[in-house]
Amino acid sequence: MNDPRLGELLEFLRFPSVSTQSEHHVDMIACAEWLKSKFLAFGLDANVLETGGHPAVVAKTQRDPAKKTVLIYGHYDVQPPDPLNEWTTPPFDPDIRDGRIFARGSTDNKGQILAHILGVGEVLNRGEQLPVNVIFLVEGEEEIGSDHLESFLEKYQADLACDVIAISDTGMVSHGYPTLTYALRGIAALEFRVRGPLQDLHSGVFGGAISNPATAVARLIASLHDGEGRVAIGGFYDGISPMPDWERAATAALPVTDEDMRKLTGVTELFGEPGYSAVERVGARPTAEVNGIGGGYQGEGTKTVLPKEAFAKLTFRLVPGQTPDDILAKAEAHLRAHCPRGVTLEITKGHSGEPYYMDPNSPNGLAAQRALETVFGRKPALMREGGSIPIVNTFRKVLKVDTVLLGLASPDCNAHSPNENFPTENFFAGIKLNQALLVELGKK
Ligand code: BES
Ligand code: MN
Repeated sequence: MNDPRLGELLEFLRFPSVSTQSEHHVDMIACAEWLKSKFLAFGLDANVLETGGHPAVVAKTQRDPAKKTVLIYGHYDVQPPDPLNEWTTPPFDPDIRDGRIFARGSTDNKGQILAHILGVGEVLNRGEQLPVNVIFLVEGEEEIGSDHLESFLEKYQADLACDVIAISDTGMVSHGYPTLTYALRGIAALEFRVRGPLQDLHSGVFGGAISNPATAVARLIASLHDGEGRVAIGGFYDGISPMPDWERAATAALPVTDEDMRKLTGVTELFGEPGYSAVERVGARPTAEVNGIGGGYQGEGTKTVLPKEAFAKLTFRLVPGQTPDDILAKAEAHLRAHCPRGVTLEITKGHSGEPYYMDPNSPNGLAAQRALETVFGRKPALMREGGSIPIVNTFRKVLKVDTVLLGLASPDCNAHSPNENFPTENFFAGIKLNQALLVELGKK
């Protein structure tokens, strides 16, 4: 396909804008500058702005005080592409096959944010007026927790003033099924390290007499859940309201089943907190997950070593009623109480973000629903999703506005996984969705 719009996306995808790896900072800057040049070409006022971390790109139309203002947020940073050997084609050399674009960031979030950018660009290139004032904010630290963005929002509060925020960085309940996401889970990250002997030891000479840090890490991880999948940290579920009946009924009616999730992930059976469906477990219930675990010999063959240290990386997903600080304090107390003797425990808290919940039938929610129906030809599903976009709650705190989340990801887009992909039809639908959304949000 040689649609020039796909050509733009392929260019965007070639930047290895991996925010968590400092060696890619130059690629981050190049990618931000590329975005700026796209905005300038449409006649927007565009700047690459310092945040204290990776820069953010802000672009605006001229403000007409008679019109509403919509801020469209997205991110140009991506997750690391590892494990590289599981990709069919290289992650930063995008490949179009079977109607999908395969590349790291294709869905999360470059394809989705570029659809909005091109949606606005098309209207302006036709010489038409937009129905609203538009501000784009495309940041480079979403995948690492948007740590610098709160102070950035405070600093540029006046420039970023708006009536509503729109984001496409979530999913569709099933392929091609329009979806308005009205809740996101929050997140709180923590890393812990267990230290034992002064240096790695011969496991035959010392094993049996010394507490093994890798065993201690395994015991600590195992202590986080009970045998059925409930989080076993004291007070973890405090403050969470039960899902109301209407919401459980609506969730049960979504066009996705537990079996769909089992097949999609390839597991032998699903696992999780008893009494909830898979969609409820990921959207409406909090969790504790191990994202990484390390220590001891990782090379070929065997090595009889008793490692001096081992570590684990955890994230908790949070729902309304929980706060990151409280959960991290409870997790720390739990880990300290369960740490085996003979080793020391070091805990480092990481990034965090609060959960988000909005009324899908608020005026802006209804406008978003109408736009989705216009483009996809059916009433959208309303869904709570398990992923996090930490800045969404900060938008509410600092800019005092709600965010409508209109996802363009298909369930099998492999975000954060090998062979991430974005269906070209979702990309083109996203361009139309942007245009329909601005019309609907612009209505008084
Ligand atoms: N696009 C996702 C968030 C998302 C995914 C929301 C699926 C709803 C459904 C976003 O880019 C993301 O991955 N966020 C991170 C945030 C974290 C690193 C602070 C996440 O959820 O892990
Ligand atoms: Mn992501």
